[in-house]
This record gives sequence, structure tokens and C-alpha cells, in this order.
Amino acid sequence: MTDTGRAVRVLLLYYSFSGQASGLVHRLANGLTSAGVEVAMERLHPEVPLRFPLGSIPRTLRMMFTSFLRWRVEIAPLPAVCFDSHDLIILAGPTWSYSPSGPVLRLLDRDGRQLFAGRQVLPFISCRRYWRYHFFYLKHRLTACGAFVVNRIVFTHPSPEPVLTLGVFLKIAGRNPEKSRLLGKWYHKYGHSQQQLQEAERIGGLLGDSLRTGQDLAGLALPPA
Ligand SMILES: Cc1cc2nc3c(=O)[nH]c(=O)nc-3n(C[C@H](O)[C@H](O)[C@H](O)COP(=O)(O)O)c2cc1C
Repeated sequence: MTDTGRAVRVLLLYYSFSGQASGLVHRLANGLTSAGVEVAMERLHPEVPLRFPLGSIPRTLRMMFTSFLRWRVEIAPLPAVCFDSHDLIILAGPTWSYSPSGPVLRLLDRDGRQLFAGRQVLPFISCRRYWRYHFFYLKHRLTACGAFVVNRIVFTHPSPEPVLTLGVFLKIAGRNPEKSRLLGKWYHKYGHSQQQLQEAERIGGLLGDSLRTGQDLAGLALPPA
């Protein structure tokens, strides 16, 4: 409820290929609901399901290349609830080759104006490390749809480079870099840490409180602060 007694409603729209963005946004949603916010969560579903891991290095290289060209991935129609009025829309997903993922690009093309025009939108990115170009492109696309991009939340994998890039690539291809005798010394886990999941929940609470009290979301210190 806001201070005036109206329920605060947030739409959390997300896509996740290997489960990392999904884990974070579920914790974010917990934080929001514990702050008294009504959350509608919708995952984008590719028409042809994409399976993680891809299972081979050539398939991984092909996906990286097509993502670099910003190939769209066809998605199922959104349920009607997405087009209702919300106080905030959180648009979450991974970085694919320095850009938003194919399903999110398709969403922007197909439903962008109808969904985002006149709305406060908060992009949420899960990535290995390189999110800036993704964010600036997404902000540009959202703004062109008439959205107000109020801030951003970015979570990067905590493993150190250069094993991070190699580890993520091998994981997507279906290998187990964390079990390799050489890489495993530095690369212990694919994706985000427990601490980051807790942080996502904390941020959900912070966002919820700010929405309820009508605070400006642009002023919030969100990761990376
Ligand atoms: C095809 C592809 C391309 C990727 N390109 C990037 C990239 O350019 N920069 C980056 O930081 N991470 C990149 N990643 C890593 C993902 O963004 C990262 O693993 C993310 O946490 C995955 O989230 P998800 O499990 O929700 O899909 C890429 C992953 C895939 C599958």
C-alpha cells in the first residue's frame, strides 16, 4: 500500500536462459512482496524452447555470433495482465554478446510501445561482466517506446577474469570448467553467488519501500552503485 492506501503494483518481466536472471529476480520479488508490493511475474517463453547447455562448442559460437547480430528470438504472446497499469515495470534478462537477449529484443519490437509507453521502467541485467553497452542500447530502445528509464540493477558474475570468460563459454557449451584440473583452481562456480541472491532480496525490499513512500527511484543506490 502507498501512504494514501492504494496498492503498489509491479510487473516483473524477465527472460533467463541458464537460470541466473531467474534466480535473482525471484529473490527480488520476495523482497518486493515482503515490503507490501503486489508483484506480477511473467517469464518470456521462446516459441522454440532454447535448451541450456547448448551441448557443443560450434553451437555456442553460433549463438554468440547470431546474438552479436541481434537476431530476434520469437516469443509466445504475453498474458493480458502485462498490459494492465503498473507503478513500475522491471525488465530483466541476461546480456548476450553485449546486447539484450534475443527474446527481449523481440519483446521490444513487438510489444514495446504498448507495454512501456508512459511507464516507469527499471532494467535488470544479469551478466558475466560486460553490461554497459547492453544497458545503453536497452535504455535507448525503451526511451524510444516512450518509457521513463528510472535507474538500473546489474549483477555480474563474481569469478575473476580471465577464467570467467572461458568458464562461462565452456559452461554454455555443456562442459564443467569448475571440475577441470587447470581452470577449476580459479573458476569455482558458474553464475551468481548466494551473497548476490541475498542482495537481490534486500534491493527488492528497498525498492518496495521507495515505491510505497513515493521516493524518486533515480536516487536509489542500486548495484553497481
Ligand atoms: C549467447 C551468449 C552471449 C553472452 N554474451 C555476454 C556478454 O557479451 N557479456 C557478458 O557479460 N555476459 C555474456 N553472456 C553471459 C550471460 O549474460 C550470463 O551468463 C548471465 O548471467 C546469464 O543469465 P541467464 O542464466 O538468466 O540467461 C552471454 C551468454 C550467452 C548465452
